[in-house]
Amino acid sequence: MMNEHVMNEPVGETRLDRNTQGVIGKGVDRYEGRLKVSGKAPYAYEHLIGETVAYGFVVPGPVGRAKVKSIDTAKAMAVPGVLAVVTGDGILRSSAQPMSPAGQTMDGEIFHYNQPIALVVAETFETARHASHLVKVEYEEMEGRYEIESRRGTGRATEEGPMAADTKRGDFEKAFAAAEVQFDQTYRTPSYHSAAMEPHTSVAKWDGDQLTVWSSCQLLETNVQQIASGVGVDVSKVRLLSPYIGGGFGSKLGIGPDAVLAALGAREAGRPVKLALTRQNVFQTTSRRGETIQRVRIGATKEGKITCFAHETETTNSEGEGFFEPSGISSVFLYPGADRLVTHRVITSDVLMCSAVRAPGEATGMLATESAIDELADRLGIDPVEFRRMNEPDKDPQEDVPFSSRKLLECIDVGAQRFGWADRPKTPASRREGEWLIGYGMASASRANSLMQSSAEIEMAPDGRVTVKTAMTDIGTGTYTILQQIAAEMLGMPLDQVDVLLGDTSLPASSGSGGSWGANSAGSSVYVAAEAVIEELAKRLGVEADALTLKDGQAISGNRQIPFSEILNGDTIRVVGTIKPGDTSDKTNQASYGAHYAEIAVNATTGETRVRRLLTVGAAGRILNEKTATSQCYGGQIWGIGYALEEDLVVDARNGLIVNHDLAEYHVPVHADVPKLDVVLLEERDRYASPLAGKGIGELAIAGVGAAINNAIHNATGARIRDYPITMDKLL
Ligand code: MOS
Repeated sequence: MMNEHVMNEPVGETRLDRNTQGVIGKGVDRYEGRLKVSGKAPYAYEHLIGETVAYGFVVPGPVGRAKVKSIDTAKAMAVPGVLAVVTGDGILRSSAQPMSPAGQTMDGEIFHYNQPIALVVAETFETARHASHLVKVEYEEMEGRYEIESRRGTGRATEEGPMAADTKRGDFEKAFAAAEVQFDQTYRTPSYHSAAMEPHTSVAKWDGDQLTVWSSCQLLETNVQQIASGVGVDVSKVRLLSPYIGGGFGSKLGIGPDAVLAALGAREAGRPVKLALTRQNVFQTTSRRGETIQRVRIGATKEGKITCFAHETETTNSEGEGFFEPSGISSVFLYPGADRLVTHRVITSDVLMCSAVRAPGEATGMLATESAIDELADRLGIDPVEFRRMNEPDKDPQEDVPFSSRKLLECIDVGAQRFGWADRPKTPASRREGEWLIGYGMASASRANSLMQSSAEIEMAPDGRVTVKTAMTDIGTGTYTILQQIAAEMLGMPLDQVDVLLGDTSLPASSGSGGSWGANSAGSSVYVAAEAVIEELAKRLGVEADALTLKDGQAISGNRQIPFSEILNGDTIRVVGTIKPGDTSDKTNQASYGAHYAEIAVNATTGETRVRRLLTVGAAGRILNEKTATSQCYGGQIWGIGYALEEDLVVDARNGLIVNHDLAEYHVPVHADVPKLDVVLLEERDRYASPLAGKGIGELAIAGVGAAINNAIHNATGARIRDYPITMDKLL
């Protein structure tokens, strides 16, 4: 059986609103968490244990841009235990994403420093690593472009990006020229890395012409196509499994080079190949977030009404890549102004390609715009909370459509109260505790919401036990438990009577995990499948589905109470449910909102900044699991500390080398950097967003939080830093 729901209309009240089972929304512990910490959740690399396998090791390209003249593999091949050294265009293509189709020649060219140029396959990891150093490459170095600052204004506008390159309304230049108050500042954010804890790893096995790959991937449907294309086989010949994932944060939206390399190596060596990228490989051969230069111009009246808004951004990517960091994504609708302009330009560079990193767009854009709003409020002599209240649009100012739901002001107000905003030092650099300068700052958060097509099968066995099956992934966000909660709530089952199978392309095609759409999209497909299961149970009982209450594995109708097993009478019910986005996404502007509050201390002598308190209030429609949703917000807050104060992927402007290629030198916040975090999630239902009435939460908290810290630094010190990260040297 099949059931399909297209989001063309807002949904009414649903079974989830009745919460008969009492599990939807509840902060249920992740059952897969226990499996993970006890070693029972196999990650990609942990497959084929006990089988005869070989190990791969990548030979990285020696320069940023070059033509390979020859690769001498003889010495490496002579090492006892080496099974194969694979070279050629297939290897060179492995780190291009989206994959350059197999057969397309790379002409032996290296397009970024450390691009894989050969793969050594050996009996042991150590042998492969040793032999990799014996591979000799002769090359002709070519001229490369490795930094963007000197080439400002040369960027391309791409049609294939995550949003339109240009979004315009009215005549911004004219409105800005006429504005009583003109704000014009430029902000810079560096390149960043996703730095997921689990490195990109793959295990590949051939059975004749059938290829099975276990890899760490977020979006199986597209990833399996990328693997097939890279290896040069039909997608029907490839099965991709990704049951457990140790974080992706965008870096696994596409495949890493490991997936294709493992498959090519396995084919050449004639046995399964395991390939774990080293931490250095991960930093240098997967993907990164592009650096940005962002000009923010805002026109306002003297009283503080915003009249026009412009956010012009420049970023970078490799030749031919369509993706760009959409820094202006929230600028399109967050603030009012009849005359508007948002632009994105991509300056080509010969460095590792840029792709999505957590909250692509908002994470970088709101570091700029939320600092700009604070700075403008300050210039106008208006409290930043009050300034936002004065400038809250009642509909999408770009498209003139209503917001599906927008609790931004409520988030700001609840946050101000809880944080004690009234106690904020009124004048910058006016509060001191010993050698520490104390400041408060705040910022808004917003993350565009999207629903993606997704399918899931629900199987109800004769004993009434339920299995949910979908090619969805769990990147550490709690998907297993959240889907279990939705099925259990809909079908009136105890949680432990619901099994969830994920991460396998032989299961119904899913949205995968990305863009904060995962739980809402995959969860909606489970909802849609469950609706049809309920219909079927009702039909068998000869009653209307609406008249049926399901609880504790029993169907209750009038004074009848019948166990599912009795209704099934030996049968198995199988339904595939599919959710599809529809008109509601065009008729409304859908986004999640929040507010951040930060208290920081800056050492007046050393310039060291300590974050003392962080509060985030979020509103993202129905919260499916309060604990996992809160954890996502903690992640965003911690990331905000990193973006405000620490993270900076350094590219050597002379040769394109990613210099700080590990977690020792690419600084992310550690425990000592993070204070006790506070997160509040507001009650909200967004009936336009999905049958679950939920919106994305995963990437909400990272949006704006770094700016709240920056604004607090201004409040503490009087300094306005527009070049992230705000390291000590910039404060002294
Ligand atoms: Mo997210 S950057 O879409 O994994």
